[in-house]
Amino acid sequence: MVTTDRPRTTGRTAAIIGAGPAGLYLLANLLESDAFRRVDVFEAVPAPFGLVRYGVAPDHPKTRTITRVLAAGFEYTDAHYFGNVMVGRDVMLDELRHHYDVVVFSTGMRGDRTLGIPGEDLPGSIGASELVAWYTGHPDAPKVSLPDPLRSAVVIGAGNVALDVARILARDPASLRGTSMPRPVVDALAASTLTDVHLVARRGPAQAKFTSPELRELGKLDAVDVVVDSGDLVLDDADQAEVESRRQAATTVKVLHEWSERSPSGAPRRIHLHFWRRPLRVHGDAAVTGVDLEPTRDTAKPLQLSAELLIRAIGYRGRPVEGLPFDDERGIVPSVEGRVVDDGQQLRGVYVTGWLRRGPTGVIGTNRPDAGEVAASILGDLAHLPRAAGEPEELEASLAGREMHRLSWEDWHRLESYEAELGRPHGGDPIVVDDLETVLRVVERAAR
Ligand SMILES: Cc1cc2nc3c(=O)[nH]c(=O)nc-3n(C[C@H](O)[C@H](O)[C@H](O)COP(=O)(O)OP(=O)(O)OC[C@H]3O[C@@H](n4cnc5c(N)ncnc54)[C@H](O)[C@@H]3O)c2cc1C
Ligand SMILES: NC(=O)c1ccc[n+]([C@@H]2O[C@H](COP(=O)([O-])OP(=O)(O)OC[C@H]3O[C@@H](n4cnc5c(N)ncnc54)[C@H](OP(=O)(O)O)[C@@H]3O)[C@@H](O)[C@H]2O)c1
Repeated sequence: MVTTDRPRTTGRTAAIIGAGPAGLYLLANLLESDAFRRVDVFEAVPAPFGLVRYGVAPDHPKTRTITRVLAAGFEYTDAHYFGNVMVGRDVMLDELRHHYDVVVFSTGMRGDRTLGIPGEDLPGSIGASELVAWYTGHPDAPKVSLPDPLRSAVVIGAGNVALDVARILARDPASLRGTSMPRPVVDALAASTLTDVHLVARRGPAQAKFTSPELRELGKLDAVDVVVDSGDLVLDDADQAEVESRRQAATTVKVLHEWSERSPSGAPRRIHLHFWRRPLRVHGDAAVTGVDLEPTRDTAKPLQLSAELLIRAIGYRGRPVEGLPFDDERGIVPSVEGRVVDDGQQLRGVYVTGWLRRGPTGVIGTNRPDAGEVAASILGDLAHLPRAAGEPEELEASLAGREMHRLSWEDWHRLESYEAELGRPHGGDPIVVDDLETVLRVVERAAR
């Protein structure tokens, strides 16, 4: 525990909204600076870590160990956690601005982009964010009912989220038993009769956004064949230039070539990778039955795929935050070096970091320099920033009297221990508790 002997009446105060990587990197930055006497982190759900917990695939437990680094800010006694407190529902921006000198939004993105094609709204067509939130156990996520029977799924997009979704759907469900995935999700995947997953990219292999280790992983899955048509891999001059200038593009093309030459082993499940095609319309009356793909270059042919499940993995999308300006086109809060600006005017004392600042791209580590830049803006502004009229302690007391269940950092540890216990009999990772009621019961019981 890092304690400070500074008197609690001096120093600045900040509220960080969203306990994902960006918010938690920023927390550490602000407290390391010594300028703050108190920094409070407000998080809409009970558990911290944002997409590290509710995005990173459950079969990638090593990636999730970054949570140890992200939690470091709470080593400071000046850091306070307000879990299960949603800004805009349980506490309002005006209140925060009244009680803190600095307010920083790091609420990331939750929704999905849409394709804008006929049939996209049919049952069986969902956004990746919805599927991912379900399989990682997000407490607010609707529980997904996989189509029954489910034989074939189509994933639109050529980024790492598309790879995650294709891999989770195609891999042997028995291999998910040792992961953090909620048991009902593992059971639903195990009960499905899925045999084929089609990943569809609107551009070519050289332009795909996959990172190399994640792509290679598909080829190493047990009981899964990866199928690639060599016709999709023909490179024109522009592709060739891309391959020569970007190592990732060269690796993608090389790996896909290797796969296109493999003979199928007769595995029970297959992942097909299609390039140079985009969805034109989704078929089905009451639910998805297939999708028409149109070519995006003349060497590719149209394709019609039968499928009961269609997943758009074409990027997450931000939602407007009550009281803040919003760039609807990019789905972000406009800012200059993290200072929120409305019509060219700076919203004094209000900042933004992470995906909400930059858009829905970048790995966990990308949020570290992002938060560092925003911390520098905040620290540079402090001398001119007026002090808030109220104190965080007043707001904390007022929240305690409201109809809500705020979770502290100790409560989070209680939930963490419970989840570790749940995972023990399965010989694996802690299992995520995916409903709020159980979370609150577990925490309350452990606190007694
Ligand atoms: C499916 C998926 C898988 C990924 N896998 C990897 C990976 O394996 N490796 C990797 O390096 N990167 C991965 N990434 C990228 C990485 O997760 C992001 O770069 C990172 O999480 C973005 O951080 P953030 O803090 O901006 O947002 P987030 O992680 O989204 O955190 C935002 C937080 O704000 C909270 N919040 C939202 N609204 C409110 C509100 N009104 N009040 C209070 N709190 C609120 C949310 O609950 C959330 O906890 C993945 C991304 C996705 C989508
Ligand atoms: N293991 C990991 O490290 C990991 C795992 C998951 C996510 N992440 C990171 O998280 C971030 C977000 O990943 P992401 O996959 O959501 O985004 P992304 O990398 O931006 O990929 C989005 C994909 O969707 C395609 N697309 C967009 N609009 C489309 C449309 N209308 N029709 C068809 N295709 C469309 C894009 O094609 P175009 O290129 O043609 O636009 C692109 O292939 C990335 O930085 C990623 O690396 C990392």
